[in-house]
Amino acid sequence: MRNVLLTGLALAFAASLSGAADAQTADASIAARKAGMDLLAAASGSAKRAIDAKSDVKPLKSTAEAMAAWASAVPGLFPAGSDKGATKATAEAFSDSAGLAKAAGNLNAAALKLASAADANDAAAFAAAYAEVGAACGGCHRTYRQR
Ligand code: HEC
Repeated sequence: MRNVLLTGLALAFAASLSGAADAQTADASIAARKAGMDLLAAASGSAKRAIDAKSDVKPLKSTAEAMAAWASAVPGLFPAGSDKGATKATAEAFSDSAGLAKAAGNLNAAALKLASAADANDAAAFAAAYAEVGAACGGCHRTYRQR
């Protein structure tokens, strides 16, 4: 009896520990995806400023590559349980992971175009790719981010 009780207690304790770990993972994922989004916004801002100032776009190559790399990482940051808490992700971000991955792929492709335009220091191509990047941000937000 005592052993059964102890085993029960140990199991309950283990369950509460793993519950806490899940909650931590969820909170960390929410914080990571929001911080990454803020960095995406900062990176887009640098691209926009270069376009507006008609300055060299070459120095933005690594920024654009980082945006592309981040876009690839985004779908991995919506683990189960991270739909609750300080998040504005919609329910669809969790129920439609294929759609979310496709939207992230659109940003990856647009950011890679931005990177090659930067590499060529081609301002016109850079501006065109920048418009695609903006469309990819908005395209995902429309479905997967609450207003
Ligand atoms: C694949 C989908 C997807 C793409 C692509 C995407 N976002 Fe987001 N974004 C989201 C989701 C989902 C949230 C809400 C995250 C949350 O609150 O958990 C968000 C939130 C944000 C936020 C608010 C972050 C915060 O601190 O609360 C900003 C700013 C943002 N996105 C900017 C951008 C920019 C700029 C781009 C394009 C360069 C972009 N996003 C592309 C899905 C996307």
